Amino acid sequence: MTANFSFECIASCNQTKARAGVFQTPHGIVETPRFMPVGTLANVKTITPAQLKDTGAQMVLSNTYHLHLQPGEDIVAGGGGLHKFMGWNGPMLTDSGGFQVFSLSEMRKITEEGVTFRSPRDGRIINLTPERSIAIQNTLGADVIMAFDECPPYPATREEVEAATSRTYRWLERCISAHQRQDQALFGIVQGGVYLDLRAKAALDLKQFDLPGYAIGGVSVGEPPELIAQIVETTAPLLPSDKPRYLMGVGTYREMAMAIASGIDLFDCVIPTRWARHGTAMVQGERWNLKNAKFREDFAPLDETCPCYTCQNFSRAYISHLLRSQEILAYTLLSIHNITELIRFTQKIRNAILQGTFATDFAHWLKPGEVQEE
Ligand code: GUN
Ligand code: ZN
Repeated sequence: MTANFSFECIASCNQTKARAGVFQTPHGIVETPRFMPVGTLANVKTITPAQLKDTGAQMVLSNTYHLHLQPGEDIVAGGGGLHKFMGWNGPMLTDSGGFQVFSLSEMRKITEEGVTFRSPRDGRIINLTPERSIAIQNTLGADVIMAFDECPPYPATREEVEAATSRTYRWLERCISAHQRQDQALFGIVQGGVYLDLRAKAALDLKQFDLPGYAIGGVSVGEPPELIAQIVETTAPLLPSDKPRYLMGVGTYREMAMAIASGIDLFDCVIPTRWARHGTAMVQGERWNLKNAKFREDFAPLDETCPCYTCQNFSRAYISHLLRSQEILAYTLLSIHNITELIRFTQKIRNAILQGTFATDFAHWLKPGEVQEE
């Protein structure tokens, strides 16, 4: 494996494919399964790295697409690289930019060479190719970098998905050739949409590259949640069991629990921070709008059982007051709680795997739900 990286599976469930592991990176360890908070623009919105560390966050994600547009990777490198620039000394991962181009920019044009799009920031025409994405990620300096992929939309025809999946494979070959740094681990990404045979083929094709980690992309793009579980169930077991497996863009309780049962180790999602900015708290599997009148005189913490700074020091009534007054501290307190909550959920699962009680303790999360929490 790439220098200073290792993945060790320390326990596995005997009724599901869940495993507990330790992923070692040059900036420290990640105990898996684990949720990774998103710090798109080299910050997790509204909270400091010290607050982030207290949530239990180990690895944090940032984005090539956003950092390339602003401030530009050379400024990040000038600031000593991503870790030093943003004041986060723990493990970091950057996404490659392909997915963000598709979801965020106008006038995108995709060819075998790469993607051309207009910057939503200043109208510049920008080219991203597998080589450019890897060069930018080499300059940013995260511990884990992601292959430049093409994520087909949902719905898409089999032919369209097949074309995107085989292009993602050819782009991976180019990413591997372009990758320069031994202290960064390049993860490949499985595409294939909702076509399970295309997923299986993509996973087996990817496996031949003997990469330090593998991701499943192209899920949670509008397909029904049952399909996400099916895709993961089919794909994850085909990826090498001695390498970390990362399910991109998924961070709801049920989807994470089910994916862990299929052998997934890492997750990321903007939900906890985005919902915080909408005044929503994630409490024991529910969503609460703290602006609701019923919280105005509710002096209990968000969650009695939560060890986070917010729950240890503030009441629902206080947060409700801050939200009604549009005080920025409201978003900070809710972000701290929501991130802690999702990380704690994956940590509880990890502990249950270690104790051999995962399949029974989490049985209610391991079947399709009638009520979606999204
Ligand atoms: N984030 C969520 N889904 C994806 C995906 O399919 N590809 C990439 N690169 N990032 C993602
Ligand atoms: Zn809390």
